Amino acid sequence: MDLVPPAWAAADRALGGCSVSSVRAVFQALRAPGALPELPRPSLEPASLLRERSGSHPRARSATTINHCFNNGSPGGKFVALVPLGINALDRFLGPTIKTSDMVADLEKVSATLNGSSSSSSSPSSFNDISSKTSSLPVGVGFQLWSDDLETAVSAIQKFKPCAAWLFAPREGQRDIDEWSRRIRSASSNTQIWVQIGTIAEAKLLAQSSERPDVVVVQGLEAGGHGRARDGLGLMALFPEVADVLADTHIPLFAAGGISDGRGAAAALCLGASGIVMGTRFLASTEARISPGYQNEIVRASNGAVNTTRTLLYNHLRGTMGWPEEYSPRTIINRSFIEHQAGRSFDELKKLHDQAAKSGDSGWGPEGRLATYAGASIGLIHEVKDAASIVHDVRKDIQKRFASREHFRL
Ligand SMILES: Cc1cc2nc3c(=O)[nH]c(=O)nc-3n(C[C@H](O)[C@H](O)[C@H](O)COP(=O)(O)O)c2cc1C
Repeated sequence: MDLVPPAWAAADRALGGCSVSSVRAVFQALRAPGALPELPRPSLEPASLLRERSGSHPRARSATTINHCFNNGSPGGKFVALVPLGINALDRFLGPTIKTSDMVADLEKVSATLNGSSSSSSSPSSFNDISSKTSSLPVGVGFQLWSDDLETAVSAIQKFKPCAAWLFAPREGQRDIDEWSRRIRSASSNTQIWVQIGTIAEAKLLAQSSERPDVVVVQGLEAGGHGRARDGLGLMALFPEVADVLADTHIPLFAAGGISDGRGAAAALCLGASGIVMGTRFLASTEARISPGYQNEIVRASNGAVNTTRTLLYNHLRGTMGWPEEYSPRTIINRSFIEHQAGRSFDELKKLHDQAAKSGDSGWGPEGRLATYAGASIGLIHEVKDAASIVHDVRKDIQKRFASREHFRL
């Protein structure tokens, strides 16, 4: 099977943008026989993932895994989240673009592809089922609204009616989230709002808000890409405390950060998560549209405590500016960071970085100088696999762990 990036939406403009054929290939990959078997519903699974806001709204009932597939790892790059939970689940996300207007072009392509394929046997049954039950476009979209025009995003949502919008990194905290949510809901009442947070303070504000999201993604400090710069906490302690704060809201919570295999996923479910999010793991998928040098580094690197850090250095070397100050990205360190720590000037580092950017795959790796955004779980990633296999293996492992009473014997 010709597996084209599920990160199709993540296609970096510099890499030539996404193609309609790659969109279709994602669907083919996902419906490969046996690729995504249904898991028996684990006993600790919440009854319903998504609060029903409309009779026709697709609701996820067996939330286990969300997978994010990224492009070149740019925090401004787009990503796709696949939620291969069988039907009723939200299946996939278009990730944020730096310019929201780029999202419109992506939505056009997705819409055209799906319209063209909705009756064809090449689109997965889950897709057709969702399509036939709702007027929503069965993809979610991520936005970086802190940096771009809300009006553009809202009119895109009004036009394409994606089934979910993923919101993150507000400049003005809950006030922004409230406004974004209100505007999105009024443009498309069936579009779910997914909000990613990383602190108890955010959870408390969210609990008081009248604009409640459909899903809260709780992002631990381990996460790759942007996360809380100074007040983040590991998922193991953060998740249950957020869950306590949000208990009365009954909003489904998803766990993100440091989960790259079935062990972490099962642990997150035991913490009370309704679903899990993986980002870094999918950098090492055959479909990820990232440079081989970057991908090799994801597979090679280990010991995330020592070899990853949160720093704005690589953003600045790349010319990515303006993220709200509460956020910084986790990345694998290399010469740029080490020499920065040793006191080398930014101008020199920038010059060397720009040279490395022209040198191809050798720009990554311990002696490289390019941004290698990734999470703390790099030591758990040993091979590049198809996205479908990653999902399959994680789900099988969760299943095995829950089926085996050994794990729960005291
Ligand atoms: C390369 C990369 C880029 C990311 N970019 C974004 C982004 O633009 N917007 C966003 O909400 N989250 C972004 N994330 C964070 C994910 O939403 C998620 O919290 C994270 O990937 C989960 O942790 P993990 O990477 O350890 O699996 C990014 C993550 C990675 C690895």
